[in-house]
Amino acid sequence: MGRRLLAVATVMTLAACGGDSSPTPTSPEAGTPNTPPPTTPMVTPLRRIVENRGLRVKIGAAAGALFNSTDAASAQYMTVLAREFNVLTPENEMKFSSLRPSRTEYRYARPDSMVTWAASNNMLVRGHVLVWHSQLPNWLTSGSWTTAETRTLMLEHIAAVAGRYKGKLAAWDVVNEAYTDGTPTLRPGFWADRLGRSYIEDAFRAAYAADSATPLYYNDYNIEGLGAKSDSVYNLLRDLKARGVPVHGIGMQMHLIAGQIPTVESLTANFARFAALGLKIQITEMDVRVPTPGTAAMFATQADNYRDVLNVCLQTTACDMFVVWGVTDRASWIPSTFPGQGDALLFDRDFVAKPAYTAINTLLSTR
Ligand code: XIL
Repeated sequence: MGRRLLAVATVMTLAACGGDSSPTPTSPEAGTPNTPPPTTPMVTPLRRIVENRGLRVKIGAAAGALFNSTDAASAQYMTVLAREFNVLTPENEMKFSSLRPSRTEYRYARPDSMVTWAASNNMLVRGHVLVWHSQLPNWLTSGSWTTAETRTLMLEHIAAVAGRYKGKLAAWDVVNEAYTDGTPTLRPGFWADRLGRSYIEDAFRAAYAADSATPLYYNDYNIEGLGAKSDSVYNLLRDLKARGVPVHGIGMQMHLIAGQIPTVESLTANFARFAALGLKIQITEMDVRVPTPGTAAMFATQADNYRDVLNVCLQTTACDMFVVWGVTDRASWIPSTFPGQGDALLFDRDFVAKPAYTAINTLLSTR
């Protein structure tokens, strides 16, 4: 009876072992009544597989509200974050509205604490994000700025923030989501409306002037497979590269719907054409949402989707990072943004590893 329960627990719970690269240890035999129950077989954490096997592709997660917070789940969150991932992306903490309560004040305490904590846990940090139409403060968007003033505001923001983190980041998302879905036009927004298309290259040049050592990324969603929006971004980056603008990588956000992802062929061909421009590729915000509550069948599809995307990254030499947009289904942007959907991450609300976790753990271990 006890053994049956433990067998079930073994399937349900993947208690990962610390930094150990040894093969999965077997459970000690159940012995006398004083012997502790057999330990759950341990699975090597994702980051340890990557590190021990010297894989090119780093594994990351966005860190958000549960990072070092008073929430009861925070301690477990921190444990899983440090155990499983070797890249951290601040989910909101480096965005304009978080950093800049007014033009003259900068709130660096929380993003600084993430950068420091990541370094002490041997994790890289992806900087996210310098120029975006969203999460801008009211003092900025409601101001009546001239074109020249708007440009100065953008440039001074980049100089300050990229300067602050100079030499400490593995990547910067310099421009985020500049294109609309469906049409090859620029997305309207605060920067594009006032500055026109040139804001994009100006942003990259300013980031490079502030920190010439950190790879600079263009980041977007619905550009992961071949398609009209991906064509637009491809043409943009080809043009920027041709004119010597310092852009080094393409961030594929990868916010997907379970069972509706681009085909592996489409992802592979799309990654290849960006790589052929001389760009690095990173998967920057992956999640795979399901209708909630998720079913076993949906979680199986979700696992296939995670595995397929990671596999395309592993097979594309230019792809060197795979970042998921959160740690646990307990804290994800999906349910509030896409009502009725969620359960999009690798760990469930109780930090139990899901089939998607197992799928990518297995792929990293065996490829
Ligand atoms: C989301 C965060 O996860 C939410 O907490 C926040 O309320 C809104 O932004 N694309 C991006 C990310 O580039 O910055 C967004 O993050 C998700 C979509």
